[in-house]
Amino acid sequence: MSSPAPIEALVEELKAAFAAERKRGEALDYVSQSGESFQRLDAAVRGAVDRFLVAPGGGFAAAAPYLNFNDTHYTRNLVAENEDFELMVLCWGKGQGSRVHNHARSHGWVTALAGRVEETRYNNPRDGLHDYSAPTSPREGPAPPPALPGVLAATAPCPELQELGKVVGGPGALLYINDGIGLHAVRCADDTNLEEGAVTLHLYAPPVRRVFLYEPEEDRVVQRVPGLYSRGGVRCQ
Ligand SMILES: [Fe+2]
Repeated sequence: MSSPAPIEALVEELKAAFAAERKRGEALDYVSQSGESFQRLDAAVRGAVDRFLVAPGGGFAAAAPYLNFNDTHYTRNLVAENEDFELMVLCWGKGQGSRVHNHARSHGWVTALAGRVEETRYNNPRDGLHDYSAPTSPREGPAPPPALPGVLAATAPCPELQELGKVVGGPGALLYINDGIGLHAVRCADDTNLEEGAVTLHLYAPPVRRVFLYEPEEDRVVQRVPGLYSRGGVRCQ
């Protein structure tokens, strides 16, 4: 019997790790999960990702079905999802990046598969505010939303963001973030060594269904349902 493809093996390992915590009666999000449970899960995720990166045909090679570069924006390409997590490959063209965003109640792990990415972290003005309708300031009110797919609402003003730090990493570096740690923006690093830009692997647990995008230049915060460019290697319409 042949062994499963490295990305399938990764998905199976992740499913087992999350199922094990669920079986213990743990809530699988960064707000409610116990520290002990998170330590076990984090170790399991890191082990599974490390094995995936070094497996023959793993890492960047395994991302081939999910590689979609777009001239105008980075793309999010879903590999697998269930109620516990979503795994996706993001493709960043040179000069492309995300806005500053949060991750709701989810854990977020990110590693580069090829090229180099830059992550900048900021304080989270909504730290501890898990109620999406709770304002961050008495002045907060509705703002005209941008014409983008998946936009739910926008508010103004944009709270002041403080930069907490910046890191640049390539394959092998695994980042972890949640809303208690802060917000972040990710972009293709200027010194990337991949012709097309950069490719990253993201694991969000549970799947992120709603995000806040911070737009200081527009002085607004946008609530949006994150979109997908492809799902299981098939382009979304
Ligand atoms: Fe993120």
